[in-house]
Amino acid sequence: MSEKLLKTREYEAVKSSEIPAEQRPVFHMSPAVGWANDPNGFSVYKGEYHLFYQNNPYGTRWGNIHWGHYKSRDLISWEYVPSALAPDMPYDKDGCFSGSAIEWQGKHYLMYTSNREDKLPDGTLQIRQTQSMAVGNGRDYEKFPENPVITADTLPEGSSLSDFRDPKFWREDDGFYAVIGSRSPDGSGQIALYSSRDLRSWRFVSILDRCNNEYGKMWECPDFFPLDGKQVLIVSPQEMLAEGLEHHNGNGSLCLIGSYDKGSHTFTREAVQAIDYGMDFYAGQTTETPDGRRVLIAWMNNWENYLTPNDFKWSGPMTVPRELTLRDGRLCQNPVRELEKYRTDELKLRVEASEEFKELPGVGGRVFDMTVELDTEKCKSLELRVAADGRFYTSLVYDGAKHTFTTDRTYSGSARDLLAVRTMPLTGHEGRVKLRILMDKYTVEVFANDGERVMSSLIYTPLEAEKILFCSDGAFEVMFSQIKKP
Ligand code: FRU
Repeated sequence: MSEKLLKTREYEAVKSSEIPAEQRPVFHMSPAVGWANDPNGFSVYKGEYHLFYQNNPYGTRWGNIHWGHYKSRDLISWEYVPSALAPDMPYDKDGCFSGSAIEWQGKHYLMYTSNREDKLPDGTLQIRQTQSMAVGNGRDYEKFPENPVITADTLPEGSSLSDFRDPKFWREDDGFYAVIGSRSPDGSGQIALYSSRDLRSWRFVSILDRCNNEYGKMWECPDFFPLDGKQVLIVSPQEMLAEGLEHHNGNGSLCLIGSYDKGSHTFTREAVQAIDYGMDFYAGQTTETPDGRRVLIAWMNNWENYLTPNDFKWSGPMTVPRELTLRDGRLCQNPVRELEKYRTDELKLRVEASEEFKELPGVGGRVFDMTVELDTEKCKSLELRVAADGRFYTSLVYDGAKHTFTTDRTYSGSARDLLAVRTMPLTGHEGRVKLRILMDKYTVEVFANDGERVMSSLIYTPLEAEKILFCSDGAFEVMFSQIKKP
């Protein structure tokens, strides 16, 4: 193990124990210490889920990128494992960027982007992104002596040498495959497919899809997998322009649904949708559970709007892991069913219309799983205020006239907030609207109509603000439970 990684591990063991438990989410993964962005290497190894993440252990801002590491038996309770990768080689000295993992012949293989930045004699910065690998036992990993295993000069001519990153690899009957984000000669994103028989030597196969300057620019963090008879390509484009209610964050996440011809390695795109409408969601990555579910987890934060309070010792929670399905041609996301085992104090209430904001008996707190269900003929407007006290609140608003749902965190108590309101359309309700709201201290995730549309946002309201208030023009039902770890 390199000296750099040893030093990080020692540092992180001390510093992570200094983070007060009250500052941590209860059922969302958060970095052991310091900054986190993208989830990496989401995989099952020896029967346990492993989740790595882009981590700066030494500060709560991006930089010095390592792979932090956790593991879990149920995707809800996460156990700390010391850092897996440090930027300690000449080819990755400026960061072990995002990547993925698989189990193969009893070992755990990681593929990541090795980032190297050098100042040239003329003063310009040369960035070289290549793909490297490491192998390990679920705790300690050795980088391959052959690294880097993929360089950008294997891409079609004119592709960028500096934007080439975030490999997601998997195994098929005829070998290993990887999808990697890169930039076409036109400056916008493309997704390259590579293959290998031995994980060491890789060859370029095809360009699976291209942005053509239509959906943002560079496409980061691809994932590619079959789902309910279709093939799904997930990408996280930079520099997206807002269209209607979609893509308001600059960096967005898209789901491209289509079909895949394995013989010719061609992907035919049939539909495109935004994955999440909230203020904080990026760089999602999936894995398959041993019982065959496709589960997505993402970074619950936003590059453009850093809200982490100054006294926090960590930044960047992950979303709740979500089971993916396709329904009527759309990607649907629902919290993994394992979460239900953590529900306690379940309540079911029918609530009458009220012009004033009112509390409901037994309904409050900052860590809960609540479903609100209404008949669209009887209730046309409903506002909930969560994390509320006399001063702060975050509004969650159903507007029956427009068929929309809005999260507004203007009054949630963040001094630097520039993006405070997001609205999403609601469809597929056939006379009913169902809103499942998960809160975990600082995270608010809303799953509308059984995961048809999802909105994820962070709030840093003081934890004492724990009222939930309701106001509506018609009756509705509430199912409420606290989430507790045993
Ligand atoms: C996405 C991203 C990736 C890159 C990583 C660096 O959020 O920009 O493309 O690998 O973050 O931390």
